[in-house]
This record gives sequence, structure tokens and C-alpha cells, in this order.
Amino acid sequence: MQILAISGSLRRSSLNTALLRAATLLAPSEVHVVLYSDLGELPHFNPDLEDDEPPVVSDFRAQIRTSAGLLISSPEYAHGVPGVLKNALDWLVGGNEFIGKPVALFNASPRSTYAQASLTEILTVMSGRIVTEASITLPLLDKHLDEHGIVANPEFANVVRVAIAAFVRAIEATQ
Ligand SMILES: Cc1cc2nc3c(=O)[nH]c(=O)nc-3n(C[C@H](O)[C@H](O)[C@H](O)COP(=O)(O)O)c2cc1C
Repeated sequence: MQILAISGSLRRSSLNTALLRAATLLAPSEVHVVLYSDLGELPHFNPDLEDDEPPVVSDFRAQIRTSAGLLISSPEYAHGVPGVLKNALDWLVGGNEFIGKPVALFNASPRSTYAQASLTEILTVMSGRIVTEASITLPLLDKHLDEHGIVANPEFANVVRVAIAAFVRAIEATQ
């Protein structure tokens, strides 16, 4: 089973990306969590480009299509969803690869309540299926942990493992 992990942060030392990288390390061997790497390469969404879409967009759509589910972890910027993540989601609105896709929302900061609520609304109106039992918030702000530090923290690692297991169960229940 392949799960595509999308971080809403382009920051090199991003906590949200570290959380998703930890998920790639903590997933059971039969679950392949792949970190999407081209978020910052997607052009600004423009409906005029949809009939002749750039290869990076086609590749993004293909990765969504072939993934059984999506893990999204995003920071909050000015009480909203980072533009780079909203831009990526806008590219998916006109297609059918996202419809019904199971999504687990990870969150590296308990303070980021506005962005989580907004993401939930956006993904729901796009007909994604948010799996609440697999959606987690970890207090990683100011912890100075990378993915290896998260994996080495028994409490955090367990929360991530349990969330992935719940996500896999939810995906399998509908396959
Ligand atoms: C431009 C900017 C705006 C931010 N706005 C908020 C905000 O509205 N609410 C909040 O809780 N944190 C806010 N933060 C803090 C980030 O959410 C926090 O630093 C988070 O760790 C960034 O995610 P990352 O480590 O994955 O890059 C903001 C950070 C930046 C750079």
C-alpha cells in the first residue's frame, strides 16, 4: 500500500516535514509512505493551463491517483493554510483523482487550529474523506526534534504508529 505524504511547509527544518518523515520510518513494512517532493515546483494554479497541464502537475495527479491515501501535515500561516499547499490542492479540484481519497491530517502544533479547520473544510468540499481517527496533533513546537528525534521519542513514535495503523484500517475497510 502506498501513502503519499504532503507537507505544507517548504522550510528546510520544517517540523511538519519531520513529522511526515518520521511516518515514513515508523510505517509497517507493507505500507510505503512516500514524501511528495515537488510542492514548491508546482506552478501557480491557472484554469487556463488545465487543458495542457505542465508535466509536474500531471506527475502530482498521478501520484495522488496511485496512492491509497494521503497524509497531510501543514503549518498555519496568519491563521490560514500556506499558499503553497492551497495552490497544490487547487490543481486537484478539476480532476477526479482526489474524490473519495482517504486523508489523515497530521499537525505539528496544537496552536494551529485555524489552518486545521480550514484544511478540513477545503478537503471536505473537494470530496476527500478525512479519517479523524488517524488525524493527530503532536506538540513539536520548540522541541527541536528532527524525524529521528521523533522516532526515538517513545510517546510521539507511538502516537504516529497508532495513527498509521488506524489509517491503514480505514483504507482497507473501503477497498
Ligand atoms: C509567516 C508565518 C506565519 C505564522 N502564522 C502562525 C499563525 O497564525 N498561527 C500559529 O499557530 N503559528 C503561526 N506561525 C508559526 C508556524 O506555524 C510554526 O512556526 C510552524 O512550526 C511552522 O511549521 P514548519 O516547522 O513545518 O515550517 C507562523 C509562521 C510563519 C513563518
